[in-house]
Amino acid sequence: MKLTKAILLVGGEGTRLRPLTLNQPKPMLPVAGLPITAHQIAKLVSVGVNEVVLATSYQAAVFSKWLATQDYLDANISVVVEENPLGTGGAIRNAADYLNLDEDESVVVLNGDVLSGHNLANQITQFKSSGWSASIHLVTVTNPAAFGLVPTDKDARVLAFLEKPTSPEQIITNQINAGCYLLSNQVIRQIAPGTPCSVERDVFPKLLQSNFAIAGYLDDSYFLDLGTPYSYIQGSADLVQQNVYSPLIEFKQEALIHPDAKVAEGAVVYGGSVVAAGAEVGKDAVISGSVLENNSKVGDGVQLFDSYLGKNSRIENQLSLTRVVIGDDCLIKVEIPPGVRVWPNVTLVIE
Ligand code: GDD
Ligand code: MG
Repeated sequence: MKLTKAILLVGGEGTRLRPLTLNQPKPMLPVAGLPITAHQIAKLVSVGVNEVVLATSYQAAVFSKWLATQDYLDANISVVVEENPLGTGGAIRNAADYLNLDEDESVVVLNGDVLSGHNLANQITQFKSSGWSASIHLVTVTNPAAFGLVPTDKDARVLAFLEKPTSPEQIITNQINAGCYLLSNQVIRQIAPGTPCSVERDVFPKLLQSNFAIAGYLDDSYFLDLGTPYSYIQGSADLVQQNVYSPLIEFKQEALIHPDAKVAEGAVVYGGSVVAAGAEVGKDAVISGSVLENNSKVGDGVQLFDSYLGKNSRIENQLSLTRVVIGDDCLIKVEIPPGVRVWPNVTLVIE
């Protein structure tokens, strides 16, 4: 069985990540300085994938623009655009048609917003030796309600797929879909072309009903859905500190400071923080677990923890901020409580 092609599902709107996704789609957000998509493709290449389709819809042009400038990924990468979003199932079928799979060929499909430390090579080995139609990477979590629940039997065969349970009785397992599928061409052909549908709500339940054998590849690897601002900030810090591995991060560091960034005397930057090109950190500032975007500026003595500071935004001297998300082109002159998100072009001052 051939498995050298992959589809990245990157068409979602990333609503929960606003304001970070107002101008760029979620998978293009930099984690540890590079787009989520880039880390995912590097991982795919490391297991022998050489052709990747980005299944896009929302802000598709941003992907094409990135692709035209990147030169570090060793794969043939294309962008396929859905005029109207096809849902995760329709998107897979659409991208697979573009890939023109052979009869005995299978494809790797990744949710475009998942940071995963799982051993993809082992999942592929399990799938090939099973001879089954599909494989789903599973992890266990303490609060499964926000995910797809996937119980399995003693032979690791998937018994059901229940996307986002709505009542406590529906929570029959803490095993969840971690967003990496291996799908045979036979399975792909079960998805109607050109018709919106969900792989989680429609395709998997229908396949199970028709007795297709689907393998659950369960492990306890690192898993993070980067769908909210704080998980995104966390994921970036985890990559920098190598709590999760990416082939694009060569070594473990306390912080990733761009050569064109300035960190003043006495400032401390740690906890997996990223300081992007042109950004400035003032004297005696303390920055932990945060992302400072291009040309942003943190004043002298500022304390900034687990936060995001957008492009060209500025935090005045001596402020202390924790778990805040500040969009592009903002000026912050006042302390704001944890959990606050500031939309772009806002100035916050004390009246
Ligand atoms: N091309 C395309 N077209 N991509 C889409 C579309 C679409 O219409 N809709 C969503 N996507 C992409 C998103 O960009 C994202 O990368 C991926 O599909 C999953 O969508 P999310 O919106 O992030 O879903 P979720 O996080 O609520 O749930 C999914 O991920 C969980 C694991 O993180 C589901 O697959 C769950 O079952 C799973 O547990
Ligand atoms: Mg998600």
